[in-house]
Order: sequence, then structure tokens, then C-alpha cells
Amino acid sequence: MKISIIGAGNVGATLAKMVIESDTADVVLLDVVKNVALGKALDLSHAAPLVGQTKRILGTDNYKDTAGSHIAVITAGFPRQPGMSRADLIKKNGGIVRDVVNNIKSSSPDAIIIVVTNPLDVMTYIAYKESSFERNRVMGMAGVLDSSRFTYLIAKKLNVEYKEIETIILGQHGPLMVPVISHTKVSGRPINEVLSSEEIDLLIRDVMESGGEIVNLLGKGSAYYAPSASCFTMIKNIINDEKNLLSACVYAEGDYGLSGLCIGLPVRLGKKGCVEVAKLRLDKDELDSLKKAAESIKELLSGL
Ligand code: APR
Repeated sequence: MKISIIGAGNVGATLAKMVIESDTADVVLLDVVKNVALGKALDLSHAAPLVGQTKRILGTDNYKDTAGSHIAVITAGFPRQPGMSRADLIKKNGGIVRDVVNNIKSSSPDAIIIVVTNPLDVMTYIAYKESSFERNRVMGMAGVLDSSRFTYLIAKKLNVEYKEIETIILGQHGPLMVPVISHTKVSGRPINEVLSSEEIDLLIRDVMESGGEIVNLLGKGSAYYAPSASCFTMIKNIINDEKNLLSACVYAEGDYGLSGLCIGLPVRLGKKGCVEVAKLRLDKDELDSLKKAAESIKELLSGL
């Protein structure tokens, strides 16, 4: 297994560390700033004798080294700065993602692409269109992260273990995310039997503000530990053909009445990429929120 990670910044390097230390796959870390990729790959290689990894990591700025990758993760781009909206990033990161995708397409035509660069829904759409890959081979990482953040908040509020929480967040990666309350359970019980609607609303507000909160706290850059862990979860589902129900940004082809855009939907990931868009029974207000999120994403797409 060979995974190429494009962009050796915070998310890319942290993900590379997870993949390598878990002995999951060989990694190629590519950055437009060559020495950054070389330096981080070398540093991770020096840790190999200590952590017992057997897989290799290579730093480069040359796409030839990424040839034949099974998975290509795109983290290249610029993170949000305080006060900067995801929409502000479209122009800047869109050009980068187009360029990266064209390089992946020629060096690894059979790869599965996972987009991490924000604004996620738009960047995934650009990657899907630019690659001309089948829809199962292009996806964006956001839903796993948003769902994990929500799981953390619910577990903290109720002082229960994370494994007691079942939840999923769909829709846009941003203010129009759709926490699916009708499928959110605590130890098997619907969450609205455990918490009041006011308490649930506060948790929803908090999960929506999670990313921005970290941007403000860090002062420079955005979250990267949880984003890397989320991407790693998707990679493991693909490599091990796990097909767990999770949320990922994929091209909608009539799913939930949506089409012509990439949006967070419930999916199962396996060796072939997104092997299924799951059909969850959503409440009317959840379907309406999903539609609203889709409209907002489409508005952004119309400016491309
Ligand atoms: N090709 C390859 N790498 C590039 C390119 C390019 N064309 N343009 C920029 N990069 C590299 C930068 O040199 C930098 O090392 O992408 C890296 C981005 O790293 P960081 O600035 O540390 O950003 P990071 O926190 O990793 O976030 C990356 O993921 O979560 C999203 O919003 C976040 O869009 C951002 C992305």
C-alpha cells in the first residue's frame, strides 16, 4: 500500500506520522516547499527504530515519486486565518487543488482521492470534476471530524465513554452542517430522551463553533490533530475494507434528492472507495437542513 500526502504542513505531517507509526502503508509526503517535505520525512524516518515501523516515508516535491499511489490525500493549501471565512479561501485553494489533482491524475490514475483542503465541499467538487474519476474515488474529509467533535461534546456533557455515543453529522463543513439528532443515541437511547432540546441546541451550537474556536485559540493556522485522525479513520476503512457507516463529502447523484454538488452524506468506505451512500431515514427538518446546506454549497459553486 502506498499513500501520497500532498501538503506537508500540520495536517499532512501529522497524518503521515499516524500512517507510518501504525505501519499502515508506505508514505510519500509531497510539498511545493521541497525541504519541508524532505525534512519532515527524514525526521519521521529517524523515529522508525524507536517505534518499530517497517514502512517507508519519502519526502519530495516531485510527483514522479507518488506514482502508483493507492490513496492520495490533498492537504495542500492555506488554512483559515482568524476572521477569514471558508468562502474567502475558495479562490486561493481552488487553483492549488486543480493543480494537485492534475498531477495525481497523471501519476496515479487509479488512486482514491481524499480531499482535506478547505473550503471542503467546494474543494472536493473541484477535485471530482478536475479528475474525471468515478464518484466512488473522490471524497472529502469533514463529516468524520464534525461527528467526532459532536461525540466528544455529548460524552463530556453526560460524563459517559465515547463508545456510548452514536451520532453522525452530514451536510456542509461549516455553519450549515446537519447534526442528525434522529440518529443520535446515548447507550442506545435516543438523545432527546436523555437531554432537553435546549441542551441539545447548545451542543449543536458548540460543535458548529469547534473549528473556529481552535482557529481563534491557535492564533495562526487551524486544527490538525483531529482532522488528521479523521482522515486516518477514512484511510483505515478503505485499506481494511471496513465499510463502517460514517460521513464523507461525496458527489451527490440524486441521493437525498440532491445532485450536482459534493456534500456530506452517510457512506461506507471500502477498498473501492465510497462503496455505498447509505439511506438513512431522516426527519423532515433534517432533510430541509440538508437541502439548505446544498443550496448554500451550490451558490459557492456558481462562483467557480
Ligand atoms: N502543492 C503542494 N503543497 C502545497 C501547495 C501546492 N501547490 N500549496 C501549498 N502547499 C503546502 C504548503 O507549503 C504547506 O506546507 O500545503 C501545506 C499546508 O500546510 P499548513 O499551512 O500547515 O495547513 P494545514 O493546517 O496542514 O491545513 C491544510 O487542511 O484542514 C484544512 O483548512 C485546512 O485547507 C487547510 C488544509
